[in-house]
Amino acid sequence: MKITRIELTNFRNICQAELEPEDGLTVIFGKNGQGKTNLLEAIWLLTGAKSFRGAKDAELIQRKQQFSIIRAEIETQDMEKEIQISICPPGSPKPGRTAKVSGVDQGRASNLAGLFRAVVFEPNHLSLVKGSPEGRRKFVDSALCQLYPGYLAEYRRYLQVLSQKNALLKHYRRTPGAAEMLDIYDEQMAQAAQKITQRRQDYIATLAPLATQNYANISHGAEKLEIAYIPTAPQGNLQEILRNNRKEDLRCGFCTVGPHREDISIFINGQPARTDASQGQQRSAVLSLKLAEATMIEQITQEHPVMLLDDVLSELDEGRQQYLLSRMEGKQIFVSGCDGTMFRKTRGKMFHMEQGTLKPWKKGELDVSSSGAAYSD
Ligand SMILES: Nc1ncnc2c1ncn2[C@@H]1O[C@H](COP(=O)(O)OP(=O)(O)O)[C@@H](O)[C@H]1O
Ligand SMILES: [Mg+2]
Repeated sequence: MKITRIELTNFRNICQAELEPEDGLTVIFGKNGQGKTNLLEAIWLLTGAKSFRGAKDAELIQRKQQFSIIRAEIETQDMEKEIQISICPPGSPKPGRTAKVSGVDQGRASNLAGLFRAVVFEPNHLSLVKGSPEGRRKFVDSALCQLYPGYLAEYRRYLQVLSQKNALLKHYRRTPGAAEMLDIYDEQMAQAAQKITQRRQDYIATLAPLATQNYANISHGAEKLEIAYIPTAPQGNLQEILRNNRKEDLRCGFCTVGPHREDISIFINGQPARTDASQGQQRSAVLSLKLAEATMIEQITQEHPVMLLDDVLSELDEGRQQYLLSRMEGKQIFVSGCDGTMFRKTRGKMFHMEQGTLKPWKKGELDVSSSGAAYSD
């Protein structure tokens, strides 16, 4: 899978930009705050997902402008398509992110799920190992949304019943017939939850050996990474488990069992990585997981996803940089960073980003550092 052309209009600080990326490596370099992450964020939005920075749609539109457009031509083994994402502010006739594919309206951008696939790797992803279970659930859910277009709808259905159930748990004593209503919610929840937990468990079961292998390669076999999905209830009759848990739920005022409380365990050499691993080990673990995510997409869809590496390469030591770049040989990959020097000798196409303006960079001619003198000779 690759992008052959991308064009942005009024996207964050990028008023207008056009880019014909390389089939392999494309490098965007420039000083901090110039628009590099903005560009990668725009590419990510072509997947139909929300911003990987957790931004609201309205924040994506350039200040003082009324809309933003991302247009890209994508190519897979058997098709060529043009994806267009329009972003409009709340209160406009078509608020939020809407999509067209080769000129045909698709409604909400989330309907695109599965058409264009990408894997993003950015500095905040260390929280995948260090942070709360929510970040790990997001990791697996975001991967499943790209792989199984129906997953998002399944998950939303579950969250809807969950919020109804939580509202009832809060007002249990004051609600006539609350026990019978809880029975109904539990039945609906159990149906939705079972599917979600199963998908997540299957996903992690396939991902785990790939990630373990990647970690072994990065650490030259010296260390072992183990990951596993931790459900809140053993497989079986979830409805019964929910019912048995009712006292506890009423005490807490919310539902304490189900996919919204589950987690992924990450161990390095038998110790929990969240608390015991060094920063370097945590970085290697995230890199292993991200590469495994890409491999899984390729195995399931026969297409390697587009890789977006935002500002992470400079954080990795040379061995890990080499490993990553050699693994990505022949795949389309966008890399951003402050310093372009390290890419001078690669076959990558280079672009310089300055105050939202993207300019092609001819390698070898000029200074590739991101200093103010970058364009002077
Ligand atoms: N909606 C917006 N309109 C205009 N500028 C924006 C908008 N959102 C963010 N910016 C600007 O984008 C810049 C940050 O860009 P970013 O891509 O994060 O930088 P970096 O090159 O460091 O990755 C900041 O200068 C910020 O003010
Ligand atoms: Mg950035």
